[in-house]
Amino acid sequence: MPNIAEFIQKLPKAELHLHLEGSLEPELMFDLARRNKIAIPFNAVEDIRAAYNFSNLQDFLDIYYQGMNVLHGKEDYYDLTMGYIKKIQQDNCLHTEVFFDPQAHLERGIEFPVIMAGITSALKDAEKDFGITSRLIMCFLRHLPEEDAFKTLKLAENFLPHIAAVGLDSSELGHPPSKFARVFKAAKERGLLSVAHAGEEGPPQYIYQALDLLNIDRIDHGNRAMEDPVLIERLRSERMTLTVCPLSNLKLCVVNSLRDHPIKPMLQAGIRATINSDDPSYFGGYLNDNYLAVANAVDLDKSDLVTLAKNSFSGSFLSEKEINHHIHQIDAYATSHT
Ligand code: HPA
Ligand code: ZN
Repeated sequence: MPNIAEFIQKLPKAELHLHLEGSLEPELMFDLARRNKIAIPFNAVEDIRAAYNFSNLQDFLDIYYQGMNVLHGKEDYYDLTMGYIKKIQQDNCLHTEVFFDPQAHLERGIEFPVIMAGITSALKDAEKDFGITSRLIMCFLRHLPEEDAFKTLKLAENFLPHIAAVGLDSSELGHPPSKFARVFKAAKERGLLSVAHAGEEGPPQYIYQALDLLNIDRIDHGNRAMEDPVLIERLRSERMTLTVCPLSNLKLCVVNSLRDHPIKPMLQAGIRATINSDDPSYFGGYLNDNYLAVANAVDLDKSDLVTLAKNSFSGSFLSEKEINHHIHQIDAYATSHT
């Protein structure tokens, strides 16, 4: 019988919560700084990693927005995306739904088509060269006015066939989902699906707003739902997917220890929870690192891991047929590896 690490390694899985800009490894940051002749306030890769100590979400975001300043040309966005794809290929991740933050680039003078060209050509190569399928999710930065999000949606107009959904990220506290109700409605009218970060630092009320005012198809994080029994029952009965990120939760002090992580209570409550890496370069681990760390911390067994992997496909934006195909693969794997 294989141990848990081996079992996770070969388990077919999808990732549903990943910020491409959060997969910018320090080595690539240096390369791009050199390529684009941009000064960065670090002398070595180790100095960058040493700066990654955060006590809350905002601490991290300040460094995250600074890090992505090295991204300029379409080849930079290609290298960023392809770097991430190569990492998850090693994790036997077969499908990924990735976020990008166009506003963080537009405000530095980078043009929308440049960003799209780099990311989409890497995602196309990911499927051609590695068989990894993907969806792209365009996030609005919630610390900016809704008007800015509308401008971004307009810029995306010519690229809608490449964008599956809109999302909502950045500083949560003080920026409730209600602030973006109109732009999410406009996105829905354009045929886009939607997701939103809610309940990472914000209260359960923000999760209710994401459900009722944004009509989201999936919740990113959602940890604080566990404070509210009525909400827990609603998430279960509506089969709402939560994209949970254990190492992110630890690094951003959403939990004090991985032993306190709510993933097991979520599964026990019948919530469709999934495991994801969020910003792997900043939080110390890619997809399998997240599975393994939380499995060890809260004693997930193989049947929990199989449920999490199945949830990652059933909560994805793949077609019913593709989802069933992956779930059968997981069943076959589980039967032959337990
Ligand atoms: N939360 C909110 N915004 C973000 C995150 C996150 O975990 N990562 C990148 N932007
Ligand atoms: Zn996130």
